[in-house]
Amino acid sequence: MSRAVATRSRKRDNSRDDIPVARRSPSSRPRKRSGMGLGILIGFGLLASASVAALLLIPDLLPFRQLPPVVEGIDEQPGVDGRLLGHFPYDEATIEQLVPVEAGIELHRDAARSLSAMTRAASADGVDLRLLSGYRSQDLQKSIFFDVKSERNQTAMERAKVSAPPGYSEHSTGYAVDLGDGDDPATNLSESFEQTRAFRWLQDHAASYHFTLSFPAVNPQGVSYEPWHWRFEGSADALRLFEPARRLSIGG
Ligand code: DAL
Ligand code: ZN
Repeated sequence: MSRAVATRSRKRDNSRDDIPVARRSPSSRPRKRSGMGLGILIGFGLLASASVAALLLIPDLLPFRQLPPVVEGIDEQPGVDGRLLGHFPYDEATIEQLVPVEAGIELHRDAARSLSAMTRAASADGVDLRLLSGYRSQDLQKSIFFDVKSERNQTAMERAKVSAPPGYSEHSTGYAVDLGDGDDPATNLSESFEQTRAFRWLQDHAASYHFTLSFPAVNPQGVSYEPWHWRFEGSADALRLFEPARRLSIGG
């Protein structure tokens, strides 16, 4: 018997084969559900353990790179994404990473190099970009947060709208800068800075030097508009550091 004939005769012998698979009634035989349920449970357990192990072994998978510090004097706790009162946790730059840029102002050397090129380009366009603030130690950030909070009789939540708690400021990384317009110093650290030529120049050119506005008018971190505060993202380290903030801002 040829193979085709053999196949046809097998089909004739078994009428179920003529019914498309999708239309067959389910078997009336009871299924062994308990074994399968246990298997699924074990599978999920293994998957969950593997995920936790991966997060612990590959810290870059975490939305934050260090355990977010609990800040004495602030009742609120960091959330699951590491943020405290809207701010992401950041390590302090090391002494080796910092270079002096102006009297009393230091920056991460990568940010300093790029800022210098940006300031020169702005100057060539007739814009006087001024560096007002750069690296801040966590101790300095602590005074800025708590001393002013006390002077202004603010809650931690109110204070965090304009100032990061210690351990949570981009300034402590050495990559963040506060910029002013030398031709309009009255706008320093004020929303009116957005009316200056310096700000308009930054809007048009800062990305070429890898600086990005950290706290635009509407931002998902809930921080007040800071047209003067820019952070450097022009190295692999800086990109990685600000990945959680960037991802949040693009809704990713
Ligand atoms: N003013 C910004 C949010 C800071 O304190 O880092
Ligand atoms: Zn700032």
